[in-house]
Amino acid sequence: MRTIAFVTQKGGAGKSTLASSVAVAARASGERVFIIDLDPLQTLVKWAGAREAADIGVEHVPPAKLSKALAALEKKGVTLVVIDAPGQGGEHAAAAMRVSDLCVIPARPNAFDLWASETTRAQVKEVGCDYAFLLNQCPPSQQNARVEFGAKSLQAMGGLLAPLVSARVDYQEAARLGLGVSEYNPDGVAAQEMRELWGSIKRRLKKAAQDSKPAAKAPAKPAAKKKAA
Ligand SMILES: Nc1ncnc2c1ncn2[C@@H]1O[C@H](COP(=O)(O)OP(=O)(O)OP(=O)(O)O)[C@@H](O)[C@H]1O
Ligand SMILES: [Mg+2]
Repeated sequence: MRTIAFVTQKGGAGKSTLASSVAVAARASGERVFIIDLDPLQTLVKWAGAREAADIGVEHVPPAKLSKALAALEKKGVTLVVIDAPGQGGEHAAAAMRVSDLCVIPARPNAFDLWASETTRAQVKEVGCDYAFLLNQCPPSQQNARVEFGAKSLQAMGGLLAPLVSARVDYQEAARLGLGVSEYNPDGVAAQEMRELWGSIKRRLKKAAQDSKPAAKAPAKPAAKKKAA
């Protein structure tokens, strides 16, 4: 089982929107997905309430019960847990960082979000969790100096996940209906973005797992042959 968390100190950067649509894209690719909603506002619990399908479990879990909840999910055969953390939730975000294999830090292409990303990065680094940034709500044309600056800044801060996620009504409509964008408009650009994003996250998780494996032992040297007397 792998656990990813959407975290950033900045409210409204897109944590819940992206967490729900990535969860749906991962489910469609064969993962057994569970969403843990750490936010006291329970945004994704409400999203699940609007959702007809029961294919993705969603539960509000307070930080103190997170480890126990994860152990139970692993026993049940869940393969991917997606945690949605609240904005400015110091204790909540820290709890998510401690239990996750990867923290995804979304930011919009503006100075305030980029500054908040630095603060979040410091927190993630202190906890020792792997992390990657994501640029969300980019103008759909994407040929924009602000987007370019944002992408370069996040790349320099430790890595940017592909693709750049654009600002599209599909994200808002899908959320309202309890759907992921790949369900709401499967042929749309937003759907393609979320499938691609899940692919990037999956590769990153795989690489981290490989890097953390102990190096294979070198084969033992054959014993030197004894000289015949
Ligand atoms: N790519 C996008 N395109 C269009 N709208 C978006 C996109 N991403 C997020 N939004 C909108 O931006 C607003 C904030 O998004 P969201 O609630 O997901 O952020 P958040 O980081 O979870 O906020 P909070 O910190 O308050 O939990 C919502 O109205 C959402 O619909
Ligand atoms: Mg949220």
